[in-house]
Amino acid sequence: MSKNFDVVVIGGGPGGYIAAIRAAQLGFSTACIDEWKNAKNGPAPGGTCTNVGCIPSKALLQSSEHYEHAGHAFADHGIEVKGLNLNLGQMLARKDTIVKQNNDGILYLFKKNKVTFFHGRGSFVKGDANGYEIKVAGAAEESITAKHVIVATGSNARALPNAPFDEKLILSNTGALAIDSVPKKLGVIGAGVIGLEMGSVWRRVGAEVTVLEALPGFLSAVDEQIAKEAFKLFTKQGLSISLGVKIGAITPGKKDVTVEYTDDKGNAQKAVFDRLIVSIGRVPNTIGLNAEGVGLKLDERGFIAVDGDCKTNLPNVWAVGDVVRGPMLAHKAEEEGVAVAERIAGQHGHVNFNTIPWVIYTSPEIAWVGKTEQQLKAEGIAYKAGSFPFMANGRARALGDTSGMVKFLADAKSDEILGVHIIGPMASELISEAVVAMEFRASSEDIARICHAHPSLSEATKEAALAVDKRSLNF
Ligand code: FAD
Ligand code: NAI
Repeated sequence: MSKNFDVVVIGGGPGGYIAAIRAAQLGFSTACIDEWKNAKNGPAPGGTCTNVGCIPSKALLQSSEHYEHAGHAFADHGIEVKGLNLNLGQMLARKDTIVKQNNDGILYLFKKNKVTFFHGRGSFVKGDANGYEIKVAGAAEESITAKHVIVATGSNARALPNAPFDEKLILSNTGALAIDSVPKKLGVIGAGVIGLEMGSVWRRVGAEVTVLEALPGFLSAVDEQIAKEAFKLFTKQGLSISLGVKIGAITPGKKDVTVEYTDDKGNAQKAVFDRLIVSIGRVPNTIGLNAEGVGLKLDERGFIAVDGDCKTNLPNVWAVGDVVRGPMLAHKAEEEGVAVAERIAGQHGHVNFNTIPWVIYTSPEIAWVGKTEQQLKAEGIAYKAGSFPFMANGRARALGDTSGMVKFLADAKSDEILGVHIIGPMASELISEAVVAMEFRASSEDIARICHAHPSLSEATKEAALAVDKRSLNF
């Protein structure tokens, strides 16, 4: 006998588990299937984000930043640390505990919201507009049916064709978060978000980090002025970043891995690393879903093809998160999950792609929302720019963290905010004000006229807004 639900969600990452909770809140009988296993083969819902992504990377970024501060920044505050020691085992164990707390939290939320959880792999058996049959292959095999199916099967790390991940020497994000001794020389291929975040973690705890990037420009999706500042700061910290390289042969040895590449001047180079992280983007995951068996359409890049409302080509089958087009971000997946559950309920779920914030959790952090200066130029939109350096912000000075700036871009005529770009302390938190402002289609003058607490980093946001009209008060 198969169990029947109104809504079945395949995948329990941020897209899937949030969709399931919202569907249950809306009164649907809901199930969520997720196959992720913890070290004891038990369920570990939360997907990439919780298990090998957002959460563990931020745990290690925090720990390694504390270590770096204790070693280098505390003395300036008059705090003398003697006998500073790295206990990497404890650092990794703390990260694992935080991951488990998040896994358990999701299982608790499923119970609280009456979402039925299945631990195993879900795949389509058959179906049409009247309902779908889904097989769950786990410890036991089950068959479930549902009127609506939401696919949220996420993504996997992209490997280089000549260097499959072994997670010992050649590491994806999974291995990069679990290196059990600090490598003397760490190679990173790809200077994107993962490369910079994980490169920062391992540099802070003592690795000599070399980042090899194919593109001639650094962080090409980031506003150029901010990316330039970031490049300067990261290289000063000790990350060695080579742009415009062409990766050639990659040869793993017994204890190290040799990377041959051509540098930006066309010279052949060879480097030997104790570990190599390959972070060159991610690919959508539809493995084992039996998409082809039920005629679920994929696009030419392997993503599940969806329209603006996350509808697939099959009636009542929806897809959200990393497995569909758009930025691969946890909060984008969550927004789509909520919107789809609401659309199933006949409501008008909505995701505003123009106000999805991006954050890179390096030190300093980089965060932005909306258009970059280079995008505005390319689109021929007339704009005004204003920026304010953290150097001139009292709170940043008190923190001892004065690098970076806040930058506003506003429409030349209407003054509507078109983009906000931050590199600096707590940029991840500061960006929220800009997101709210843009969601309400505020002008830079609106922000300039709002009272901001003193002393706070957010005053730099207000000052950057004032700078759009060339009337900064503190710079
Ligand atoms: P996923 O989180 O990948 O979840 C998919 C789930 O579905 C997995 O549990 C998988 O096991 C399961 N699954 C797949 N197929 C099946 C099947 N057939 N049956 C059952 N279960 C299945 N984003 C941010 O916004 N902020 C960050 O700070 C951030 N940091 C990151 C750091 C790293 C190192 C990485 C790799 C990613 C990071 N991301 C971050 C991206 C973020 O993790 C993803 O955008 C997000 O997890 C996507 O959510 P999702 O629900 O679409 O997919
Ligand atoms: P990415 O797309 O951010 O960066 C990949 C980089 O690798 C690019 O700069 C690209 O030019 C380069 N590259 C591609 N092929 C290459 C090659 N053959 N040789 C050298 N360089 C090459 O991808 P990344 O870092 O793997 O992260 C994947 C995604 O995960 C991100 O795009 C983001 O969506 C998500 N993520 C988000 C985080 C956050 O929100 N803070 C943190 C980490 C990941």
